[in-house]
Amino acid sequence: MKIITGNPGTGKHTVAKIIAKKLNLDMIDINRVAIDEGIFEKRDGTLDVDINRLKRIITRNASKNSLLIGHLAPYLVSRNNVESAIVLRRNPYKLQSVYKKRKYGSKKAIENLGSEILGITYYDVVKKIGRNKTFQVDTSNKSISIVIKRIQAFFLGGKTQEDDVDWLGLVLKKGDLKRFFPY
Ligand SMILES: Nc1ncnc2c1ncn2[C@@H]1O[C@H](COP(=O)(O)OP(=O)(O)OP(=O)(O)O)[C@@H](O)[C@H]1O
Ligand SMILES: [Mg+2]
Repeated sequence: MKIITGNPGTGKHTVAKIIAKKLNLDMIDINRVAIDEGIFEKRDGTLDVDINRLKRIITRNASKNSLLIGHLAPYLVSRNNVESAIVLRRNPYKLQSVYKKRKYGSKKAIENLGSEILGITYYDVVKKIGRNKTFQVDTSNKSISIVIKRIQAFFLGGKTQEDDVDWLGLVLKKGDLKRFFPY
């Protein structure tokens, strides 16, 4: 299967359907599966998902032709089943405005921003399937059609020059470390 992942708000769902259609892939939307299967459970006022159960369902439903979408993707697959993975990235200052619009609580926002700045999803994908099968695209200053083109090129043709992402460097340069890591 192929994967499009990245932190919440990086642009996965904006491109997923179009990519699936263009490449004739069966889209599996992890959020959708979790809702349909009713596997959210409430804990500390936030919604947590039962990863093991979700993993079993995904494994059962996925095929070679699947396109798995969602920020939890790296934790729901095994190395052998994944052909290639896209990790969408977004400038934390821009991501913060997405979270404001979505009215994320401060804990949820700060957790996801910290994760994006440290590149945790990218790191976890590379750890799971290897660097040569992973490609990151910075969506901060790209139109949706350019993002789609970059993803398509990687899925069809393999790895080319990757976007350079250094959010931690950016945040340090702006003196905003405390703003994003207040605890
Ligand atoms: N390439 C892009 N350029 C500008 N804005 C974009 C781009 N891609 C997505 N957006 C905007 O960013 C916001 C978040 O995008 P989207 O909802 O697709 O993120 P997501 O990764 O699917 O999030 P989640 O994991 O929470 O489902 C939306 O307001 C969307 O319109
Ligand atoms: Mg989405």
